[in-house]
Amino acid sequence: MRLLSSLLASAAVLTSVEAQNGYKGFNYGAFFNNQVPKKQVDFEYEFRAARQLPGTNGQFTSARLYSMVQWQTQNTVIEAIQAAINTQTTLLLGMWASSGQEAFNGEISALKTAIQQYGKAFTDLVVGISVGSEDLYRITPTSIQNGGGPGAQPAELLNYIRQTRDAVRGTALEGKPIGHVDTWTAFVNGSNAAVISELDFLGMDGYPYFQTTMANSIENANRTFYDSLDATVRAAQGKPVWVTETGWPVIGAQQNQAVASAENARIYWEDVSCSLMAKGVNFYYYMLQEAQYGNPSPDFGVKGPGDLMQVPNRFDLSCVRQSFFLV
Ligand SMILES: *[C@@H]1O[C@H](CO)[C@@H](O)[C@H](O)[C@H]1NC(C)=O
Ligand SMILES: *[C@@H]1O[C@H](CO)[C@@H](O)[C@H](O)[C@H]1NC(C)=O
Repeated sequence: MRLLSSLLASAAVLTSVEAQNGYKGFNYGAFFNNQVPKKQVDFEYEFRAARQLPGTNGQFTSARLYSMVQWQTQNTVIEAIQAAINTQTTLLLGMWASSGQEAFNGEISALKTAIQQYGKAFTDLVVGISVGSEDLYRITPTSIQNGGGPGAQPAELLNYIRQTRDAVRGTALEGKPIGHVDTWTAFVNGSNAAVISELDFLGMDGYPYFQTTMANSIENANRTFYDSLDATVRAAQGKPVWVTETGWPVIGAQQNQAVASAENARIYWEDVSCSLMAKGVNFYYYMLQEAQYGNPSPDFGVKGPGDLMQVPNRFDLSCVRQSFFLV
């Protein structure tokens, strides 16, 4: 029975990944942890550091962004775009959707400007557009209780998704998949099914570390993660499910049975990240570096604070099981 259900579960995952390209990347915020906006040189440095990351064979060549707008501006194109062109980094674009229509107009405007200003050099790099990031999670009682900040109602998101489709119609971005990134719990919530209907793909965020109502020790983490992926696939109306955020913290408070440590982050990488990459799932790890300065907690960074190119990886990023057969 157990075997049968796990076979069925893997079949479900396979259906969801058939048409995927195996993009591998990290999530990149628009500003440093002291609120200073990232400039083109900063993004470029980060994209190059990801590409040169020891143990990964130069495979981390994609970047997920949260916004099209340069931080602290109204509608200036984010400087990550020029940095991506200079480093040939593919892009999962993000449109920030939790600050109301006026702010979203800035996202649309920056998207249109980028298409005009950079043309094919930009549009060829785009692998998808996510309208929103965890907006549906942030309107839930759990997030409100945790002080998660404003989100967006399903009807609002539908509106933004349609506005984005209108904005790219007739441009070189028409036909690029438009999705939405949210927690797996938001996707399996039936009240959000109308949003899923509007999407080309779902971007799933899942963190067993934070799943404190479940058995969430590192020993169970692979199972817990894939259960959430399978549940999302079942809710996905046949659409592909990308993994847009997952990770295990190196530093942080214990959450139920989940212990933050470099050793456990390594186990999570080997089990979850390496298996997703082996399956060819589009995959964006959280994250390359949490902070340049200070001591954030939790800290999910593969790199600790300091100069990205100089500080060593906190844990081994090779996928031993996969490369075993190649040596
Ligand atoms: C389910 O989704 C609806 C609409 O997004 C939201 O209002 C509600 O809080 C969610 N329920 C839970 C238990 O998260
Ligand atoms: C984690 O689970 C996935 C899906 O069931 C599986 O393919 C992978 O081999 C597992 N990894 C380990 C280390 O058990």
